[in-house]
Amino acid sequence: MPIEPVDAQSHARRSLVVMANRLPVRQVQRGQNLTWEWSPGGLVSALAPVLTRSEGVWIGWNGRPGRTSTSFQFEGIENLSVPLRTQEIDDFYNGFSNRTIWPLYHDAVRWPEYHRIWWKPYVEVNRRFAEAAASVAAPKATVWVHDYHFQLVPGMLREMRPDLKIGFFLHIPFPPQELFSQLPWRRQILEGLLGSDVVGFQTRTAAQNFARLARRYTATGGNDRELRHKGRTIVPASFPISIDFQHFDSLARTSAVNARAQHLRRVLGGEGRRIILGVDRLDYTKGIDVRLKAFRELLRSKAVTIEDCVFVQCAVPSREKVVQYADLKRRVEQTVGEINGEFGSVGRVAVHYLHRNLPIEELVALYRLADVMVVTPFRDGMNLIAKEYVASRTENTGVLVLSEFAGAAQELRRALLVNPHDVDGIVSTLERSLRLSQEETRRRMRWLRRVVQKHDVFAWADSFFEALKDG
Ligand code: F6P
Repeated sequence: MPIEPVDAQSHARRSLVVMANRLPVRQVQRGQNLTWEWSPGGLVSALAPVLTRSEGVWIGWNGRPGRTSTSFQFEGIENLSVPLRTQEIDDFYNGFSNRTIWPLYHDAVRWPEYHRIWWKPYVEVNRRFAEAAASVAAPKATVWVHDYHFQLVPGMLREMRPDLKIGFFLHIPFPPQELFSQLPWRRQILEGLLGSDVVGFQTRTAAQNFARLARRYTATGGNDRELRHKGRTIVPASFPISIDFQHFDSLARTSAVNARAQHLRRVLGGEGRRIILGVDRLDYTKGIDVRLKAFRELLRSKAVTIEDCVFVQCAVPSREKVVQYADLKRRVEQTVGEINGEFGSVGRVAVHYLHRNLPIEELVALYRLADVMVVTPFRDGMNLIAKEYVASRTENTGVLVLSEFAGAAQELRRALLVNPHDVDGIVSTLERSLRLSQEETRRRMRWLRRVVQKHDVFAWADSFFEALKDG
């Protein structure tokens, strides 16, 4: 699809502005040509129709170093790409966002690093994005800011444009006081978020953590449901994000996906061999290493053999410049090698490991195929993979093993819940998942599907806009 450049003047009056670190489109190489396509993910599918309807604009970063803003239309959506220089990618994105905030907000499962030389670029980049939003928003427009990269934007934008309705949604967890208090810039971050009218979180606990911290470290009154700050009211609340259920459900019913699933099943050893699946970004919060260890223990216990079952782990490359991610990759690959060395035989491995992005059709074929889906993050804002698996199980079969520390566990209560730090617990839950009766499996999956179908990503976006309208 060709890119139509948009005259900067035409930015002037947008009644809806969405801001996220990534644009909703990404550039891909198709043969000789570089073209744009939609980025995968629920956020884009939920917001694209709203943006088209309201002729809104999506502000984000195009993923490459640059120095100039560019704007273009893609399939009816206006994109405004705000640049990051190479040094800012290091300091703002890899540094403060992904080595300070990311680990701190995920239970400090890796040590959060506090560097003053990362803070300044974080402030500067937030200001640049706030200015971009201020210049394109119409009077009294709605601006919806997403995620931990832009926690200062609501406060900055409120000062530049007090007329705007500002919503903020955090896609990752918001930590309790014991952790958040470590942050040298805790007051600035809280005041930034308090520039919003509605601050949305994945869970009630996260919303409560924020409300309590705001009252403790800033001049804020009110209670957990309604805060008062600088003469304004701010609503902290939970809006658990979801997926486009219908899309996954329909895709899972297509003949192409079913043919692919059947082919993969034959390749993996036929009907008699149960398939355990893990799909994650290769991130240290996801618990990929511990689940592999648990599978090794299960094989060692001889409760199952590799004739009975096989593990397929897809790990999508992520944040490869961050040292902790490179370490994890080495560890996971070593563990896969060790398990296959210990249990595999010629022509038959215990673990299939794919380190790449998979097209959605391939992913859904794997979801269809998997008798057991293992989602074991140490901490996760939501975890949409768990919901995608459920949406793809059109026949109410398949068992979801889910970490109790994923936001999704609050809703998907009929999954087999596990503590991801407890290797023995994962081992016994894996064994249980392989032995669960058909009847119980169906009962659980039917229940889970009803939940995800009802609370899809469209309901999520509607509920946020509704709260913002009232706020
Ligand atoms: O889960 C948080 C999140 O920022 C998502 O919004 C995003 O899809 C994912 O992490 C990948 O992150 P990155 O943009 O750093 O590749």
